[in-house]
Amino acid sequence: MKQSLLVTGGAGFIGSNFVRIALQQLPEARLINLDKLTYAGNLRNLTDIEQDPRYRFVQGDICDAALVARLFAEEGIDTVVHFAAESHVDRSIEGPGEFIRTNVVGTCTLLEAARKAWSASGEERGTRNENDSKHSAARNPQPASRRFRFLHVSTDEVYGSLGDTGLFTEQTPYDPRSPYSASKAGSDHLASAWFHTYGLPVLTTNCSNNYGPYHFPEKLIPLIIANALEGRELPVYGDGQNVRDWLYVEDHCRAILRVLEAGEVGETYNIGGNNEKKNLEVVETICDLLDARVDPLSSGEPRRSLIRFVKDRPGHDRRYAIDAGKIRRQLGWAPAVTFEEGIRQTIDWYLANPQWVAAVRDGSYRAYYQQMYGGR
Ligand code: NAD
Ligand code: DAU
Repeated sequence: MKQSLLVTGGAGFIGSNFVRIALQQLPEARLINLDKLTYAGNLRNLTDIEQDPRYRFVQGDICDAALVARLFAEEGIDTVVHFAAESHVDRSIEGPGEFIRTNVVGTCTLLEAARKAWSASGEERGTRNENDSKHSAARNPQPASRRFRFLHVSTDEVYGSLGDTGLFTEQTPYDPRSPYSASKAGSDHLASAWFHTYGLPVLTTNCSNNYGPYHFPEKLIPLIIANALEGRELPVYGDGQNVRDWLYVEDHCRAILRVLEAGEVGETYNIGGNNEKKNLEVVETICDLLDARVDPLSSGEPRRSLIRFVKDRPGHDRRYAIDAGKIRRQLGWAPAVTFEEGIRQTIDWYLANPQWVAAVRDGSYRAYYQQMYGGR
């Protein structure tokens, strides 16, 4: 029996990169992409693979229990990779309700559908306890294509905010600070509960900030690239000294595939780039790279002159930094792309795809931008 993957949120930034890489790396697998196509979902991200006979797109909501159950039955799903979420912190501050609905209720709906399908598949061995399941993969070896797996994709933001030193490990207590991170923390707890209570073979990954192609220009890096190309102001929140740990999106996708392949069920894996950067440093790097690549601004000034320090994000987490030692030691994964290479590749992609940027900066984007940044 061939592996049948359900990827939720596969039309978004990370999901679409994952769909492309998974179709390459799993030549035997069938892949069903369930995506609601919110403002963040975009089928233009997938035009190059949409004709692949192993690929099916379904527009729908992960909160729709009947639809999700039907997909499990129709497609014999044995692997879930769950990306679908409301993902932008600023939007969660403006309107938290949708974050609770999709990230918490949606994850619960998906876990329940997966549990029923897994149960019906006969793979369930009864409710397991933690010790029991620790070594279940070793006791019940099955080919990867026939094992049921539910991989829940989460974020480092669930751990809260760090001071100048220290790293998030898998043991760091949860301390979410924004409606977004609180909703993701809730979904992580649900995934863990479905493992402990029902024995569903769940794996969770908590990753740091991704960047790369198809990144929606409401997030820092693509927003700065798009604005700097147009000669618009570059909004930097607060003092610009907040730190994020940046990971090239394809490295994240490869980590997820590795966890699916060899991760131990019930376990959590932190994924990070070991690339801590202050926001101002990131913005200045993008300005300098663009100055070297494209026409100067009409003012003749370097692009750094567009930087504006604006009102801080409420509850703005100061620093994130991941200790990715567990996935490196246990599964042999490490990032392959340095920030210097990754940011150049990302800028190259945005320069090569102006139509993509123009299409996503449509009417609703302009309304969002006006509300957030006052039309600067
Ligand atoms: P994104 O906002 O670009 O994409 C989210 C996708 O989910 C979109 O295609 C959207 O249409 C879809 N979606 C939203 N609500 C849905 C629903 N109710 N039903 C079905 N589909 C729905 O997000 P992203 O940046 O690609 O993040 C993907 C996942 O990875 C999220 O779970 C996020 O929390 C997590 N994550 C993101 C980052 C990051 O830096 N972007 C880092 C770590 C973890
Ligand atoms: O850490 C993982 C998380 O990274 C993911 O879980 C989220 O889905 C993803 O959106 C991202 O969250 P951040 O809030 O860190 O990303 P964002 O790109 O929104 O902001 C990055 C930093 O840049 C943050 O410190 C806020 C700052 N910022 C952001 C924007 C949009 C600015 O200074 N100006 C801006 O205009």
